[in-house]
Amino acid sequence: MARDSSSTIRLAAVGDLHCREDQHGRFRQIVKQINAEADILLLCGDLTDRGLIEEGKVLAEELSALRVPVAAVLGNHDYEHNQSREIIADLSRVGVHVLDGDHFIFDRVLGVAGVKGFGGGFGNATLQAFGEAQTKAFVQEAVSESLKLEAALSHLDTSRKVVIMHYAPIPETLEGENIEIRPFLGTSRLAMPVDHYGAEAVFHGHAHHGSHVGKTKSGIPVYNVAMPLMTKLNAEQRFMLLKV
Ligand SMILES: [Fe+2]
Ligand SMILES: [Fe+2]
Repeated sequence: MARDSSSTIRLAAVGDLHCREDQHGRFRQIVKQINAEADILLLCGDLTDRGLIEEGKVLAEELSALRVPVAAVLGNHDYEHNQSREIIADLSRVGVHVLDGDHFIFDRVLGVAGVKGFGGGFGNATLQAFGEAQTKAFVQEAVSESLKLEAALSHLDTSRKVVIMHYAPIPETLEGENIEIRPFLGTSRLAMPVDHYGAEAVFHGHAHHGSHVGKTKSGIPVYNVAMPLMTKLNAEQRFMLLKV
């Protein structure tokens, strides 16, 4: 029976699993906890360590024990060996909905929009498309990820929605990262569609040494759920649990 639109949903969210080929069993405990405590799992990219098919297969096998739906985005590591297509296929086979500018609807009630995202910096210091073709290409990737997110959100007709991405949409959740690399860890361009269409929460990863919570300009909560950070906050749980 589908839940009604006001019922509480228990979201589990985590990114940066960085699964390697020799890690059979590494996620057994976390899968067990999520099955017991959550209604849906959101995965925020860097699912594999080096973007290898074999790593994707190990992760797919681990996730096959999940009893809750899973929506995911890929991260930069998942593209390292140009094998993202095969990784997506293996994850899809075990029921993971890998989003790339599209959405997943949980129980007819909650829409999840997802995109990988990209870097480019924040606020007045956001990199602009000026000068060399290579700079323009870099900015274009950020713009196109932002447009993909806008499309995903504009097609969502659920009254409730959350957003998942790999890169950070605000600088606050990067506090703790080396200041010199922060413009490469995210961009405000990703926050624009979120503020325009609204969402109950945004989850991202990528910033292993960042901070856990921040807010967009319009006050939407943003959570950095990179597993190394989550482990630091709570070694017993290693993922975020949020009731919305
Ligand atoms: Fe990562
Ligand atoms: Fe990453």
